[in-house]
This record gives sequence, C-alpha cells and structure tokens, in this order.
Amino acid sequence: MNQVEGKVAIVTGGGSGIGEATALLLAAAGAQVVVTDINLVTAEETVETIKDQGGEAICVQHDVTSESAWTRVCEATLAEYGGLHILVNNAGVSGAGLPDFEEATLATWREVMNINLDAVFLGTQKAVLLMKDSGGGSIINLSSVMGMVGGASAAYNASKGGVRLLSKSVAVYCGNMGYNIRVNSVHPGFIWTPLVRDLVDHMDEGNMTEEGLREMLTERHPIGRLGVADDIAKGIVFLASDDASFITGSELVIDGGYTAV
Ligand SMILES: NC(=O)c1ccc[n+]([C@@H]2O[C@H](COP(=O)([O-])OP(=O)(O)OC[C@H]3O[C@@H](n4cnc5c(N)ncnc54)[C@H](O)[C@@H]3O)[C@@H](O)[C@H]2O)c1
Repeated sequence: MNQVEGKVAIVTGGGSGIGEATALLLAAAGAQVVVTDINLVTAEETVETIKDQGGEAICVQHDVTSESAWTRVCEATLAEYGGLHILVNNAGVSGAGLPDFEEATLATWREVMNINLDAVFLGTQKAVLLMKDSGGGSIINLSSVMGMVGGASAAYNASKGGVRLLSKSVAVYCGNMGYNIRVNSVHPGFIWTPLVRDLVDHMDEGNMTEEGLREMLTERHPIGRLGVADDIAKGIVFLASDDASFITGSELVIDGGYTAV
C-alpha cells in the first residue's frame, strides 16, 4: 500500500540535490508537493519534471531564513492543497569558503546558523501549528553525519548538531501535547550534489580536482562509494510515510558506514 498517497508535502531547497530527489520521489508516490527554493528557476524545473511524470506540484520562491516567507509558503500550501502533512526542512549550505575557526567571526558563524539551524526552527514551528489542526504529520529535518562527529567547519557541525536535538526536542514536545506529529532527523554521509562538488573550489588552495575530491571522500565510506541523492530521498520518504508511524525523535543515518569507523 502507498503510504504517502494524498498527503501534502513541503520540500525546502527542492531545486537541487537531495531536495529535488525527495520532491520527485514524494510526487511519484502520490503526494502533492510544494517545492520551495531561494532559486525559483530550479524549483520550477523540479515542478516541471514532476508534472511531466504525472505528479502534482507547485513551486514557491522561498528564503528559509525569512519568517514572512514561511508564512507565504504556508498560505500558498493551504490555498492550493488545503492542509499540510509532511515538511522536509532540507535547504542548507556547506559554509565552504568561509574562514577557518581561528579567523571566523560572529557574522560568518551566524551566516551558517541562520540557514542551517534558525530556519529549521522557523519551518518546524510553522509546520507544528498547521499540522496540529489537521490530524498530525511528519517533519523531517536534514542534519548530517557532521551533526554527529566533527570534521567540517565548527559552524556547520554545530548547526547540524543543533538540528539533531531540535528535532528530538520537538518530537517530545509534540508527544507530550498529544499531537500526532512525528519529528525526525536524517544524517547523510557525503552525497555527490552541487553542495559537495563545490567544495573542490575551496580545497588544497584550489588545486583539488573533482575526481580527486571524489576519491578522497569515497575512501571515508566503508561501502566503497559516495551516496546519491536518491539514497537519502528514499529514507526521507519512508520517514514521511505511515510505515514510520512509530518513529519519532529518531535519527536516520544513511552514510555508507561513514560513522561506523
Ligand atoms: N550533499 C551532502 O553530502 C550532504 C550531506 C549531509 C547533509 N546534507 C544536507 O542536505 C541538505 C541538502 O543538501 P544538498 O547536498 O542537496 O545541497 P544542494 O546545494 O544541492 O541544494 C541545496 C538547495 O538549498 C537551496 N538553498 C540554499 N539556501 C537557501 C535559502 N536561504 N532558502 C531556501 N533555499 C536555499 C539552494 O538553492 C539549493 O537548491 C542540506 O541541508 C545539507 O546540509 C548534504
């Protein structure tokens, strides 16, 4: 049985990488998808692909750091589809190119926190307010293996670690309040998307090649390959579905063994 059929989903950062793959997979499974991105052109392309494949979707231009933009996204979702059952807080940045820890400033720290953590607070709060009145739902927040171990910039690690515990905290809150709302975090290993590909420009004083980066990152994954966006999208769709109805406050690690070493 299809367990997301007829559900309404918002996917942020749906114009690229993991968000795009998730939007496509949710729509293919019968969900109505609101694809949002700060880059409207790429969000529109995702919606076109969904429609070409017979699915239902709309797109909304959305800077996740803006509370008023979140209000617009929620209003558009209610106007088009009448409710909300699934939110995937996926939009994020790597912070590549920002200074090392010793040179970091409060401004560069906040730049990453604002998108990767503060925006997840905004989206999660808006979703709880909508979902509690429409029978419940599932919120999936993109953390990272870098939310469990160090190895990226301090700001990225801290933002993703924050997403992990924000998710657990709201999961417990919703349970205590008697809302039928599940909240979970997803922790990808390295997935070959623009976010990771772009790291090449900031490594080894610009002498790193894409092939070299791939090889270096692959070695850290016992499974012997990097992930692809669909590897993560499949886990997200599972958490969104009724098959995961007993899963809340949990962390789904999809990392090819990265954190098992
Ligand atoms: N790729 C990986 O290896 C990896 C690993 C762990 C976690 N993640 C996380 O997964 C999520 C998606 O990453 P990805 O690799 O697909 O990245 P990506 O760069 O391919 O896509 C990110 C999307 O977010 C959008 N975005 C950026 N800032 C935004 C803003 N302020 N408002 C709205 N949209 C914004 C971008 O336009 C882009 O479409 C991120 O949260 C990332 O931290 C990625």
